[in-house]
Amino acid sequence: MIPESFVQELLARIDIVDVVERYVPLRKAGANYSACCPFHSEKTPSFTVSPSKQFYHCFGCGAHGSAIGFLMQHAGIGFIEAVEDLASSAGLQVPQEERNAAIRAKKAPLTEPMARAMHFYREQLKTSPKAVDYLKNRGLSGEIAAKFGLGYAPDGWQGLQQVFSDYNDPALVECGLVIVNEQGRRYDRFRDRVMFPILDQRGNVIGFGGRVIGQGEPKYLNSPETPLFEKGRELYGLPQARKAIQEEGTVLVVEGYMDVVGLVQNGVENVVATLGTAATDANVQKLLKQANRVVFCFDRDDAGDRAAWRAMEVSLSHLADNKTVEILQMPGNQDPDEYIREHGREAFVQQTKNAARLSEFLLRELVKRTNPNTAEGRAMLVHAAKPLLQKMTAPILRVQLTKEIAQRAQVSQAEVEAECGLKPLARDRYAPAQMKQRPVPSSIEYKLLQILLHKPEWAASLPLELIDRERVESEALIAIADAIEHGELPAGGFGLLLEFFRGTPHEALIAGIAANMVEEVDLGALEAMFNDSVTRLRHTALTAEIEQLTARARQGLSPDDRKRLTELLAKKRPSAS
Ligand code: UTP
Ligand code: MN
Repeated sequence: MIPESFVQELLARIDIVDVVERYVPLRKAGANYSACCPFHSEKTPSFTVSPSKQFYHCFGCGAHGSAIGFLMQHAGIGFIEAVEDLASSAGLQVPQEERNAAIRAKKAPLTEPMARAMHFYREQLKTSPKAVDYLKNRGLSGEIAAKFGLGYAPDGWQGLQQVFSDYNDPALVECGLVIVNEQGRRYDRFRDRVMFPILDQRGNVIGFGGRVIGQGEPKYLNSPETPLFEKGRELYGLPQARKAIQEEGTVLVVEGYMDVVGLVQNGVENVVATLGTAATDANVQKLLKQANRVVFCFDRDDAGDRAAWRAMEVSLSHLADNKTVEILQMPGNQDPDEYIREHGREAFVQQTKNAARLSEFLLRELVKRTNPNTAEGRAMLVHAAKPLLQKMTAPILRVQLTKEIAQRAQVSQAEVEAECGLKPLARDRYAPAQMKQRPVPSSIEYKLLQILLHKPEWAASLPLELIDRERVESEALIAIADAIEHGELPAGGFGLLLEFFRGTPHEALIAGIAANMVEEVDLGALEAMFNDSVTRLRHTALTAEIEQLTARARQGLSPDDRKRLTELLAKKRPSAS
């Protein structure tokens, strides 16, 4: 957990305009800045950044948020990574909980040697005609080699001694560059291999894959798992592919280093690879954060077919109805790299367009495996579908698939659902809790919330006792007033406020209102609106009390009540008093 106070401090220190400008060229437009939205394709700019609110908003696609939100969305990274990135650019140290601090302390001494090794291998490539020829023969240009930081680990047992003055440094063993044998002798893990550095999302070198030049075993030697490198979480080529993935709205996932580099060489850039493992939950989650469409490309061999099935299984539990996962089984015996070299970019792109939707693939494979031409086969089909349907999280897609399976099994949809123990996926399972009760945009409380999002400090003068506590929007109002009262919510624009409420039940409501917040408002008009709303609030409370007292008046009122009623009536008609 990063302390809330740090997030606030960070947002107060940085300027969202600088952050956005790192990625998107901005033009000044009045008090704000504008640009063509990086999150959807458009010709006229509807993306706006407000420096006074420290907030961005796209009128076209509705994307909006703080500097942190922007970085998360644009770079496809998580909250913590975004905070760390911004903190380091602002020269701030993120306070860590002890456990994180421990992990961090373990990683820190390893990143430097890894970067140094990458530079060494790159330099070595320049002096090795053999390695350069190998890459050239595989169709790679110097430009692509540079883009991926390709290198060469020289032949020899202690090549790295040239760049590490202390070859005995335990960090070299810990980050997997050096191996100690049983006799205690140390030697380079990677020797006489073409080197593929593996980068994390922020561009740090966390591992290497080394290919033997020509024939030899193993074909690829990889870094072991280290504190920096967890194979199942990483995707090769992601930092280089990010921009193209965003432009295409699609991420292609291939099996090998050479597939990535070969596709990019031939003009297909939105591509990453899993690292010699089947797709994992972490992979799929990360992929679906990058783009709404993920296409897995598998070689057409036994290993590829197994990997395709596995990718399908894993994807089922991460899908949403607005996301698609597709599976492309490469034609012939070619992998994507070989295919694009022989047939060219257009043909490859066409193949990806013909990829099977996850549901098609699933159905086709199930039918192949169970052969529903007999009663037994049809029973088997439902039986085999059961664990898959149970995994599915996309409610509408699951219904579709259930129907198709029912049809092929010649039973009813309800029978499949009963047999597979499928409960209806309630829609509100996905809605944040507070949305169950809907906010009412015409309520005074909603109006006040809109106003306070511009000027949270006014919450201090809000008569909280008068607001209708039954409303969801009131809860957010009270939360703001509470934060102001406790001095937890420093002034500093809307972005700050949004971050303050991240992860709370009020987040969705506040973010929803935020969608219309970028336009500059006139402070005088805002204040008048606030005063007017407070007056309406008082008026409503007054009217309610008067109604209550007059209703009771039939049974007779106590002298106190009568006095109160007279007072209230006088208040209600200020002109008459
Ligand atoms: P492939 O055997 O399909 O190789 O391995 P490739 O990608 O086509 O490589 P080239 O074209 O012959 O150079 C796919 C991936 O599996 C992992 C690597 O990540 C490789 O990119 N692998 C394969 C290993 O880790 N070790 C191996 O010995 C082989
Ligand atoms: Mn290959």
